[in-house]
Amino acid sequence: MLDLASVRAVLANTYDLTPSWDKVEATKDLYALADRVISPPDWALHAPYILAINALKRERNAVILAHNYMTPEIYHGVADAVGDSLQLAIKATQVDADVIVQCGVHFMAETSKILNPSRTVLIPDVEAGCSLASSITAAGIAEMRAKYPGAPVVSYVNTTAEVKAASDICCTSANALQIVEAMEGDTVIMTPDQYLAQNVAAQSSKRVVWWEGSCIVHELYTAADLRAYRADQPEVKIIAHPECTPEVVAEADFTGSTSGILDWLHQHKPKQAMLVTECSMAANIADELPEVDFAKPCNMCPYMKKITLEKILWSLHSMTTEVTVEAAVADKARLAVQRMIDLSRRLAA
Ligand code: 13P
Ligand code: SF4
Repeated sequence: MLDLASVRAVLANTYDLTPSWDKVEATKDLYALADRVISPPDWALHAPYILAINALKRERNAVILAHNYMTPEIYHGVADAVGDSLQLAIKATQVDADVIVQCGVHFMAETSKILNPSRTVLIPDVEAGCSLASSITAAGIAEMRAKYPGAPVVSYVNTTAEVKAASDICCTSANALQIVEAMEGDTVIMTPDQYLAQNVAAQSSKRVVWWEGSCIVHELYTAADLRAYRADQPEVKIIAHPECTPEVVAEADFTGSTSGILDWLHQHKPKQAMLVTECSMAANIADELPEVDFAKPCNMCPYMKKITLEKILWSLHSMTTEVTVEAAVADKARLAVQRMIDLSRRLAA
């Protein structure tokens, strides 16, 4: 575990982290991207970290890949690329900088390392896990294969490298249905998210069987809560992530990956929207959609929230924590992820 007191002492001795008007002025273009959701005093505290991180990125020849669930000061202040899991995986294949700092959770950093093994991949907090990734091991995949002989295994990217290596192909929330439909045979095994699998099964021509994992953030939403919210605010558009239960998805006006949600909002520009997903999603896109009033109820991912500006600065300063994947595992896992990327591209063409 990071010793934050020591980290703070080293950072304070090495970088100018004192808030000042000059630093606010130097970051004003970035602040303009998030001023609907970050107050001026809060930005004044973030600005010194943002300046220090962006300078250190240049020194280390590093890029920051940030998931849509990062806080707005990370998303707008220091990220070089933002997106959903599929977009970040594709971006990782294209990075030619020496260092990738993955601002997201551990499986995302592993995916970047698998796809671009010659880069140094850092994660600012190695404890940024995921309830889905920790719900299954390679032994679980073997168990499913024994139960459904011959059925292909489609594993969500929210899995460890070891699980990806034991799977036939990966999927993300952006392409799960298309990947399952493209599999041969009548039965498809989906791991580890039971709700994503059930939501896919509801639209698929295949018999989908699943592992019983779940996302601790999305499973908290209930259909009754959404109905109550809609009864109170009849104009609201409810937009859900497919890691929610099928009952919640049935209440939604649209269901999609985090980037699918953003595209839908740009297309429809509802007066009011409730994003049934992680809290930072709405905060990150509030400024680019000024016409949309975002309803406040949301659930926070404790793993995503482990990543902070302070830890990113420490990560680049100390070049820790490096994420590595054993070569034999990475080679097999790469096949599963690359198959997904190739199939997604072919299906989109
Ligand atoms: P997206 O791929 O839709 O961004 O969601 C992945 C996820 O659950 C991140 O926690
Ligand atoms: Fe995992 Fe859910 Fe957090 Fe995403 S939001 S990292 S699926 S626990």
